[in-house]
Amino acid sequence: MFEHLEAAPSDAILGLTEAFKKDPNPERINLSVGVYQDADGKTPVLDCVKEAERRLLESELTKSYLGIDGLSEFGTLVRELIFGFEHEIIQSNRSVTVQAPGGTGALRVAADFIQKNFPGARLWCSQPTWANHSNIFKAAGIGIESYPYFDAAASRLNFESMLATLKQVPSGDVVCLHPCCHNPTGVDPTDDQWRQIADVVFERGLLPLLDFAYQGFGDGLCEDAVGLAEFCHLDRELLICSSFSKNFSLYRERVGALTIVAVNAVSAQVVLSQIKSCVRANYSNPPAHGAAIVATILGDPQLRGAWELELTQMRDRINGMRRLFVDTVKANGANRDFSFIIRQRGMFSFSGLTPDQVDELREKHSIYVVRNGRINVGGMTEANMDRLCEAIVSVL
Ligand code: LMR
Repeated sequence: MFEHLEAAPSDAILGLTEAFKKDPNPERINLSVGVYQDADGKTPVLDCVKEAERRLLESELTKSYLGIDGLSEFGTLVRELIFGFEHEIIQSNRSVTVQAPGGTGALRVAADFIQKNFPGARLWCSQPTWANHSNIFKAAGIGIESYPYFDAAASRLNFESMLATLKQVPSGDVVCLHPCCHNPTGVDPTDDQWRQIADVVFERGLLPLLDFAYQGFGDGLCEDAVGLAEFCHLDRELLICSSFSKNFSLYRERVGALTIVAVNAVSAQVVLSQIKSCVRANYSNPPAHGAAIVATILGDPQLRGAWELELTQMRDRINGMRRLFVDTVKANGANRDFSFIIRQRGMFSFSGLTPDQVDELREKHSIYVVRNGRINVGGMTEANMDRLCEAIVSVL
């Protein structure tokens, strides 16, 4: 049976890292996958994570299964991180959280829940969006549509077209939004624009699915949740997929969460039962280690403070690289103004490089960038900046 199969295309993002690892050039640069690197080009384990793991090693008593929805203290702490401690959503118990294997796992569980309970609902993604969104939603059997998001000529949000399209979306469909650090463009709506988007989404009777993978990488933990807060009003329902790959640098531990906000506590429990049946049919129950680390850190004031400091350092380094990139590419004689990159937020920048230019960067210079022109600014360092900018100017 296998002999008749055709090879699947390599993944648009992770396939590039596979190619990068095989590249013999000692000066190769990987700016494809969204993984943060420090000034030495390394992705170290955060100090707060090491300390949490030390504590867990001493205190752990069992490796028995977690519940289908994961560690309950993890869920509580995740909700406090998303909404803030005193939020009405928390006080009224109308929100539940299911621990998931990474943000991708959370999205897949959300997609299964949507497909099972709202068959025929279509899922609207920004154009462009994270390359894996369509894989995940299609695998769950959901029809995908798109709404305009990015004005490439001006490197800014195409807000008017976005809103106009959302106003036409049929009631009962689902809208996927990135509350901060939009992947791949790095362009986010303003607070006022978020208010208008949330109004349209609810006026149209749509279900928001918020892909919240970069909390803390934009302007800060609270600042990055301002857009999300616009969806958190009384009587509103929403789904939030969190990832802790980036902000805890826990990539390979696969730790994420799906948080559901219902209109009341009874409805939230019904939704939880449905979500649990999706999880059971998929991976049964989640892996413990990554979530135990996150819960240990968020639940301990000293560790939480240390984490916030390390997160700030990652964010500041990325923003420093944005400025250095713009200066260096200009100093190398670029015939294009890249200053928009300073205004973009999070790990990524949408450079405007064409697929041909990206291919040339890879083939001639061993520089790996996603073919849509997305660059992982978190992979830039002072050491690779000159070589990177020279190469970019040469392919422009
Ligand atoms: C990315 O967008 O590069 C990250 O979210 C990693 C991934 O799984 O694609």
